[in-house]
Amino acid sequence: MFQPTYPIRTARLTLRPVTTDDLDDVYAYQRRPDVMRWMLGGGPRTREQSRASVAAMAGEDALRAEGDCLTLAVVTGTGVIGTVELVWRSRADRTAELGYVFHPEHGGRGLATEAATALLDWGFDEFGLHRVYGRCHGRNEASARLMTRLGMRQEAHHVASYLFRGEWADQLVFAVLAREWRSRNRE
Ligand SMILES: CC(C)(COP(=O)(O)OP(=O)(O)OC[C@H]1O[C@@H](n2cnc3c(N)ncnc32)[C@H](O)[C@@H]1OP(=O)(O)O)[C@@H](O)C(=O)NCCC(=O)NCCS
Repeated sequence: MFQPTYPIRTARLTLRPVTTDDLDDVYAYQRRPDVMRWMLGGGPRTREQSRASVAAMAGEDALRAEGDCLTLAVVTGTGVIGTVELVWRSRADRTAELGYVFHPEHGGRGLATEAATALLDWGFDEFGLHRVYGRCHGRNEASARLMTRLGMRQEAHHVASYLFRGEWADQLVFAVLAREWRSRNRE
């Protein structure tokens, strides 16, 4: 079983596993159409859907097997402002996929970048990943900018490659290797 030593602390944030007590904070952003706009799995959540989401995320506190998701609540003095996650895509290739969702009221201050950086630091330095990739809808500019800001390279622009809410959508793929992450951190 692999998990960070909790909590992870950064300059402005605390990262720790999600708990069922986080429902109000998570629902506050999952209910918003602007947050869910480019996400797979449907539109804005009802409170009951958020309850199920929080219950699922609360179990994602460690990577036990390939395919598992590690989800961390990102906490400030005001509560949970978002989540960052790593999905363990391949044990053999030491590869994971990055994900993130944040409340827009806390956007534009680099907090998602700060949280994702801490998770990637754990993924590369502690968990021993070789490669982390991220995918987003071709029109999800904030997500593409975040991955670029993290130092991820855009590797692909798949045209009309997946069905998103009944329409063919473009998908962008970004990635970073451990050696790139480490040299970036030394800059
Ligand atoms: C993707 C998402 C997390 C990005 O949020 P964000 O607020 O743009 O990201 P950050 O918190 O890192 O803030 C970065 C912004 O703050 C600015 N900023 C201010 N201070 C900063 C600092 N100290 N460090 C870095 N950036 C800083 C940056 O310039 C950037 O602004 P810009 O994108 O206009 O250039 C957010 O849009 C989101 O949750 N979207 C909905 C869910 C979603 O689509 N998830 C991804 C699915 S693929």
